[in-house]
Amino acid sequence: MKVLVWMLVLVLVVVGVVSSEGVDAPPNVLVLLADDLGIGDLGCYGNTTINTPNIDRLASEGVRLTHHLSAAAYCTPSRAALLTSRFPTRYGMDANRVLQIPVILHTTSNAALPKDEVTIAEAFQAANYTTALVGKWHLGMECSFLGKSCLGPSNHGFHSFFGIPTTLFFEFGEPGSFWVFPLWKMMNRALIATWLIIMCSLMFGYYKKILKASHIMAILLISHFLFIFLWFTFNHCNFTSGASTLSWAAYVLLLPFRLLDGNPARPPSTSSVRVSEWFRTNYNSFLFRDNKLVEKPIQLEGLTQKLVQESTQFLTSRAKDNRPFFLMHSFTHVHTPMFSARHWKGRSRHGRYGDNVEELDEGVGAILDTLRELGLEKNTLVYFTSDHGGHLEAVEPGTMERIGGHNGRFKGGKGQGGSEGGIRVPGLYRWPGILPTGVTVDVPTSLMDLMPTVLSLTGLPNITQLVPRSADKELDGVDISRLLTEYNVVEERGKNEHTGKDQHPTRRIFLHHCQEDVHAMRLYTGEHVYKMYLYRHQWHKGSTQCGWGPMNYCPCFTQIYNLTTQPMLYDLIQDPYEDYPPITHNTSEYKAVTRELLAYLQQWRDRVYFPPSQISSWGNFMWRFWVQP
Ligand SMILES: *[C@@H]1O[C@H](CO)[C@@H](O)[C@H](O)[C@H]1NC(C)=O
Ligand SMILES: *[C@@H]1O[C@H](CO)[C@@H](O)[C@H](O)[C@H]1NC(C)=O
Ligand SMILES: *[C@@H]1O[C@H](CO)[C@@H](O)[C@H](O)[C@H]1NC(C)=O
Ligand SMILES: *[C@@H]1O[C@H](CO)[C@@H](O)[C@H](O)[C@H]1NC(C)=O
Ligand SMILES: *[C@@H]1O[C@H](CO)[C@@H](O)[C@H](O)[C@H]1NC(C)=O
Repeated sequence: MKVLVWMLVLVLVVVGVVSSEGVDAPPNVLVLLADDLGIGDLGCYGNTTINTPNIDRLASEGVRLTHHLSAAAYCTPSRAALLTSRFPTRYGMDANRVLQIPVILHTTSNAALPKDEVTIAEAFQAANYTTALVGKWHLGMECSFLGKSCLGPSNHGFHSFFGIPTTLFFEFGEPGSFWVFPLWKMMNRALIATWLIIMCSLMFGYYKKILKASHIMAILLISHFLFIFLWFTFNHCNFTSGASTLSWAAYVLLLPFRLLDGNPARPPSTSSVRVSEWFRTNYNSFLFRDNKLVEKPIQLEGLTQKLVQESTQFLTSRAKDNRPFFLMHSFTHVHTPMFSARHWKGRSRHGRYGDNVEELDEGVGAILDTLRELGLEKNTLVYFTSDHGGHLEAVEPGTMERIGGHNGRFKGGKGQGGSEGGIRVPGLYRWPGILPTGVTVDVPTSLMDLMPTVLSLTGLPNITQLVPRSADKELDGVDISRLLTEYNVVEERGKNEHTGKDQHPTRRIFLHHCQEDVHAMRLYTGEHVYKMYLYRHQWHKGSTQCGWGPMNYCPCFTQIYNLTTQPMLYDLIQDPYEDYPPITHNTSEYKAVTRELLAYLQQWRDRVYFPPSQISSWGNFMWRFWVQP
């Protein structure tokens, strides 16, 4: 009897505590986004030699998703999808096959997430949360004349922003110099020769009294303007890594005629869109606070700590004013270039890349520790993910040291939207007391599920109720809250029954874009996860990548196998790493699955409108110097 009474008291106390917490404070949301981090780079996803205790703890205290998929394999489109829960092709934020520029190139670009799209930050703003973005944005800064004000994140629901407007470029590591004139460049030799010829002719003309002094002055002025222009173009706009400056010039000159013909031929080579270290650093290496530039060029050493400090200060302010918050901390690690604070150099077992992963983990730890010290841990939903897979091709130009991520046994990486390694990323959800701890979910999920899931878990109205403008915007993500909260119950019923039949849609189809084309599709049926390839990359022999180099990626429209007439089909439950031959074409399984997926794709294409690509446009490519901050 006594025991029963005590139990009753205990139950009442527990219920009282839970409900009083639930009523008073609306829950907070913290999103931790890593950049270019591979699924094989973390201890909690099976890496035994890297040291990521903080992220591993997040996994053991929450739900670990093993089949978590990004909508794209490049930063800009994947981040757009994460924030809007919609495919980037729906609003022009994915590359087209003409220019193939896959991301926003610089701060003055006119490409940006359309104002009309509704982001998760905007939803939380509508729910009276304080919202903040710390770290990388890369979705367009929308700068005004002379760069006086760059709206960027503040146009998309973030009350405050501190971080980098675009991305880190590997050239930021070496600022380079303005006065360069390498004589090994044919163009520079030609410049010198022309200069000498003009000078000699002028002197000759002067002594022979053919030219007047005023003519000479005019010629000198005009020719030197031209020389400076050519010198700058030849030395600071390096179109020479894959194609010559001349072939670019020819392409640009002929483009209007080709467009009139309705046949815009491919540009010389997209990997050749390069500028010099000096140019890149000076027109792009910025740190912003809200709409204003506050640091140029960025001091890379200590950047991670500076951003983390900003987030911990934000948390401290919220603990004081007691307002619910939505904080997105978007790490600049582990994108190239590699850099770390002095105390991190050489600490990991995996060179500079490993140091960067472990520094990222330290940052995650610092933010989570602050959350706990401020007493906010219990009431905060935390989500950790990476925008896409690791960049396999990335090497340090001189030393060839690998500086890209590791995607475990999955094949392919960054840039390959159809390959598993390009899009299979870590995904962790933690909310003490609400989500189960130490649970693994193998059901396929998407980064695009974030908005509907988080609004549902936090008990807020849905997106159309919060932001009525979103009513005509179809979401590509779904609410996986029941999968997260009830999954362990299903798992207990039987090892093989990892389907969540009554918790989650038992059928779901995923599209996998490589830039604007669909390269692969996935069908989840409860028992099976099928993956169907329409295109595959032509990898270098013996690898799952396309060459080496910090700017090398597999192209999406060339160097591919076209399988559209006979798609390749894998069952990822039987063969998760696609090591074995695909399912044979004459089986009824193959026929049924490919028929269903191809019919779905046809319907999708008939139904969904795709506007022209913004990021594969001249407005993104061109340096719009008049809005340069
Ligand atoms: C762990 O991560 C490092 C860094 O990416 C990588 O070099 C290594 O191969 C990984 N090890 C395992 C066992 O996955
Ligand atoms: C936000 O605050 C406004 C004004 O105080 C209120 O009318 C509205 O209902 C609040 N929204 C939510 C979702 O709580
Ligand atoms: C949001 O809720 C309303 C009313 O419950 C419902 O009609 C609408 O379909 C929901 N929208 C979404 C996107 O779930
Ligand atoms: C692949 O082949 C199909 C059918 O032959 C064709 O319609 C399509 O344009 C091809 N795709 C590419 C990228 O060449
Ligand atoms: C499919 O074709 C293979 C050889 O190409 C044959 O061995 C197999 O029996 C066929 N299966 C069916 C179901 O027809």
